[in-house]
Amino acid sequence: MLKRLQRWIQNKSGIGENRDALEVLRRRVDALAAVQQQHLPEGLALPWIPHGLDGVSLAVHRADAMFRYPLSVSGGDWKRAAQEYFDTGRGLAETLQRVHPAPQDLLDFGCGYGRVGRFLPSAFPESQRWAYDPKAGAVAFQQARWGAQPWNGQPVDLIVAGSVFTHLRPERTASELHLLTQALKPGGILVVTLHDFADQTSIHALTEEAALPELEDQLSESDYVSVRFSEADWAQRIPLGFNCTRRPERFGETQQILVVTREAFEA
Ligand SMILES: C[S@@+](CC[C@H](N)C(=O)[O-])C[C@H]1O[C@@H](n2cnc3c(N)ncnc32)[C@H](O)[C@@H]1O
Repeated sequence: MLKRLQRWIQNKSGIGENRDALEVLRRRVDALAAVQQQHLPEGLALPWIPHGLDGVSLAVHRADAMFRYPLSVSGGDWKRAAQEYFDTGRGLAETLQRVHPAPQDLLDFGCGYGRVGRFLPSAFPESQRWAYDPKAGAVAFQQARWGAQPWNGQPVDLIVAGSVFTHLRPERTASELHLLTQALKPGGILVVTLHDFADQTSIHALTEEAALPELEDQLSESDYVSVRFSEADWAQRIPLGFNCTRRPERFGETQQILVVTREAFEA
């Protein structure tokens, strides 16, 4: 009797026979999603569009995890996913305008498929706009849809890295922050978003991409992770001679916005 009860509890909680059945089911769902992904058009047809997006490109790439993940966790709620996606991108573009209203040039670093990038042409109509991402397809999409140029490494006035340092291992963060601060012109500003600080830095494997294995352009799971920094560990990674301060706005509902600038020289 005890054995039967134990088996029943294990099956209920997915660690008995059900574990194997659940794994088979998960693979089957992943396979179906992979087949369906092959047949999606490059740009998703959104059945619902939030107000106030006049002049902003509504092209959402089928592999944009920033859209597909909220769509998936909401169980296919297009309205919720679209609202969150466009509000988050627009919010950061508005913060950038406050931080640096008229940069000659700006770089969207880790630009992805343009949750933020699509708002930059109207926010900075006079600026040269560069985009960088290890996903070549993402940069090509932004270039084709709203004319962002693939970054050639030249220094700029303003850099934004939206939800990039939430995903790089801490040692990579240090080298990328070094590269980006070197790429700032004198008086230039780097804006990054991060999860709120924790008591201790933690790294885990679950990312939006890992949750959606059918998406093309996947990065290596060993390099692309989820990171939450402690304030001290983050401060250690800010290159010497630079300051980091927090903005009052948030990126979406979950991230803080930090501004990195050169320390002023004492006269
Ligand atoms: C969470 S997504 C955010 C995309 C976009 N910034 C946004 O807010 O929608 C993180 C992006 O960082 C890019 N990325 C990954 N490793 C990177 C690296 N070493 N340098 C720059 N970008 C990187 C990924 O390809 C991905 O597009």
